[in-house]
Amino acid sequence: MIGLDLSNSTLEEIKEENLSELLNKIHAKKQGFYYTIDDDQIIGKINRFAEKNSDFEHIVVCGIGGSALGAICLQQSLGHLYLNKLHVLDNIDPIMIKELEEVIDYSKTLFIVITKSGGTVETLSQYDYFSKKIKENGYELSDHMTIITGPQPNPLRDEAEKEDLEVFDIPEDVGGRFSVLTVVGLLPAKLIGIDIEKILKGAKVGRDNFLSPDSKNNLPYQLAKTQFDLSQKGKTINVLMPYSQKLIKFADWFRQLLAESTGKDGKGITPTNALGVTDQHSQLQLYNDGPNDKLFIFIEVKNMNPEIAIDSPYKTTFGELMQTEKNATAAALTKNGRPNITISVDSVSEETLGQLFLLFEGATAFLGELMGINAFDQPGVELSKKLTKKALLK
Ligand code: PA5
Repeated sequence: MIGLDLSNSTLEEIKEENLSELLNKIHAKKQGFYYTIDDDQIIGKINRFAEKNSDFEHIVVCGIGGSALGAICLQQSLGHLYLNKLHVLDNIDPIMIKELEEVIDYSKTLFIVITKSGGTVETLSQYDYFSKKIKENGYELSDHMTIITGPQPNPLRDEAEKEDLEVFDIPEDVGGRFSVLTVVGLLPAKLIGIDIEKILKGAKVGRDNFLSPDSKNNLPYQLAKTQFDLSQKGKTINVLMPYSQKLIKFADWFRQLLAESTGKDGKGITPTNALGVTDQHSQLQLYNDGPNDKLFIFIEVKNMNPEIAIDSPYKTTFGELMQTEKNATAAALTKNGRPNITISVDSVSEETLGQLFLLFEGATAFLGELMGINAFDQPGVELSKKLTKKALLK
């Protein structure tokens, strides 16, 4: 169960607005993020692939932006914090390549190259580098590499065919930053033992909520309306601050979603992240006493697991201490007239993550309509990609 507490938002009650009309406008955009979660065939293919490839000691994902942030988030949220075999290379800094190669053994490593366009220079460069290294080390490329990519025209798809690599399809109607619940996020998650069926179960609950025409029950709509109304009052920065170590990469995922979706036509809400309680000792001075231009979105976990007792005069547990600090932070911000809202989840679980993804994706879709922009394109990213290619070909 996800809760949304808007009592410290500083706004009056959310008024019923033409929710059905907004939903119709979203449907008209034909975006697949809320219905491709019903695709059982892809789950079957992922499960068969994971079974066949269960012996690899290292999984390396090559991808960037929406082709990486979902896997990073799922690993942090649902994998082990310190024991992990998944390495996501979402940059081209050579030190990452060097230090990765110090850790992996090519014979025991599977590479997953993820790019929807099949033309992103960073990811293609990684493909070129690692495919050569796999061959040089004497291994069959098709035994150690698989490709997740979008439809034609697509240079990487052509290459995969030539090399006889297994290819997973990214649905055409799901954009990069909305693709975590497709094979893009689910295959890496499955390979590190995460129960992807449960993620999708949670996502379907989130989807029902997103499609509810009743604004009192529609949490994505309520979230979006709060973000929008406050942005009109000068709160143009959204700080997502989970009080959970496991959810900090969820905040990174959100950062891309909000920035790329709303930053259009001179408009936009600027996302930023903070971690409770850590950033109370880093950002809170600014939040309480600096410019009043932010909406704070807390995520709190009601049942911290495990409950570890602290043997101190406070007679509490680490989880309770965290909760107490969150409440105190929210109270201080409220006292200072800083709008803050709280999303609460029972626990950090597969179902919760599925619901959270749909909550924020749905809210972003509503935001696009409220702001009068297309939340689903990214012309600013495309232009930079084109200019990079042009410069490289000179
Ligand atoms: O959300 C987006 O569309 C972008 O951030 C892309 O995910 C990113 O640019 C990577 O693109 P591609 O998956 O085509 O390599």
